[in-house]
Amino acid sequence: NKVVLAYSGGLDTSVILKWLQEEYGCEVVTFTADIGQGEEVEPARAKAQKLGVKDIYIEDLNEEFVKDYVFPMFRANAEYEGEYLLGTSIARPLIAKRLVEIAEETGAQAISHGATGKGNDQVRFELGAYALKPDIKIIAPWREWDLNSREKLLNYAEKHDIAVEGKKKKNEAPYSMDANLLHISYEGGELEDPWYEPEADMWRRTVDPELAPDQPEYVEITFKKGDPVEFNGKKLSPAKMLRKLNEVAGMHGIGRADIVENRYVGMKSRGCYETPGGTLLLKAHRAIESITLDRELAHLKDDLMPRYATLIYNGYWWSPERLSMQKLIDDTQTRVNGVVRLKLFKGNMMVVGRKSETDSLFDQSISTFEDDKGAYDQKDAEGFIKLNALRLRIQNKQK
Ligand code: ARG
Ligand code: SIN
Repeated sequence: NKVVLAYSGGLDTSVILKWLQEEYGCEVVTFTADIGQGEEVEPARAKAQKLGVKDIYIEDLNEEFVKDYVFPMFRANAEYEGEYLLGTSIARPLIAKRLVEIAEETGAQAISHGATGKGNDQVRFELGAYALKPDIKIIAPWREWDLNSREKLLNYAEKHDIAVEGKKKKNEAPYSMDANLLHISYEGGELEDPWYEPEADMWRRTVDPELAPDQPEYVEITFKKGDPVEFNGKKLSPAKMLRKLNEVAGMHGIGRADIVENRYVGMKSRGCYETPGGTLLLKAHRAIESITLDRELAHLKDDLMPRYATLIYNGYWWSPERLSMQKLIDDTQTRVNGVVRLKLFKGNMMVVGRKSETDSLFDQSISTFEDDKGAYDQKDAEGFIKLNALRLRIQNKQK
């Protein structure tokens, strides 16, 4: 019997690897993905080899991640509970998909991951896996073993000759972090006190707004069917685009969030997030929609958005309802084409211009406060208001 493990090469998943071999006596296949976490993935190969792994999968999924997961989600302007841009949530379905595909390729019956039994990630990995391969077996060591403290984990590693980067233990971040091209999340440790302000040096992808440049910077983002395709007039692939947006927004201190959110498993949790490129993208996307989308279509999208965001947060990326909603959202985006100009300054971003040569619904000859030459008859407004007021007047009379 075989199991495919989502393997980072770090201490936790190395212990899991060994534990699976020991407890389940099974052959472990490792899967390590580069999704823009900013750490080398190649070192995972030697580590897996040392633990006797024969089938080692190491893949660069940056482009697929942004093109097929991040961008479709941003077409919906998704925000969970009004603030969280779902940076971790959106990466899980891709990992789940690759895990079950590799299980199929290698003839493994099971997959395994390093998420705890208290969080959202376990739900996302497993709902995704069950949706794509109903008979898959899932092993979640954190829900089974008794290595429930750092010390026990380190002891286990020592006993089984798993390399713990000696000195690194000390400068290891005092937070639980998760990083990919869209965001970095920080949870746990001192952050568990929601009143505690994070140390300035916790943030890694954005500068402190106070320390951002004293000169504003203008940027232009070109959209095609709701996706950003050009930055300052230069075509970029999806992953390169997000990297560029991260760089420029991060430099101006844009994209920090410090929130308390409701986990699907029932508890509240405090998290700090850095999503520089995503924050800028959301702002720009709403701006291009503002001139290209019909009012009711835009409002319909806004009605659906919280549900769509919750689906992703809760792990239902591969559900029929998400897939159907996506079709509707994508359909609205066919006319979301044009350019947005923004000014970035010390943690802030202001839309200063938007245009669409092909799809603008903005009609200056109608909107103007100047002479509209009969394009709009102000007398029509009287009846419009009166009929809309009818039920309000009836209501009042009956009191
Ligand atoms: N609370 C966020 C979410 O549920 C971030 C989770 C971070 N995951 C992690 N393994 N550190 O999406
Ligand atoms: C975990 O519990 O593994 C991380 C946090 C989460 O999934 O919400």
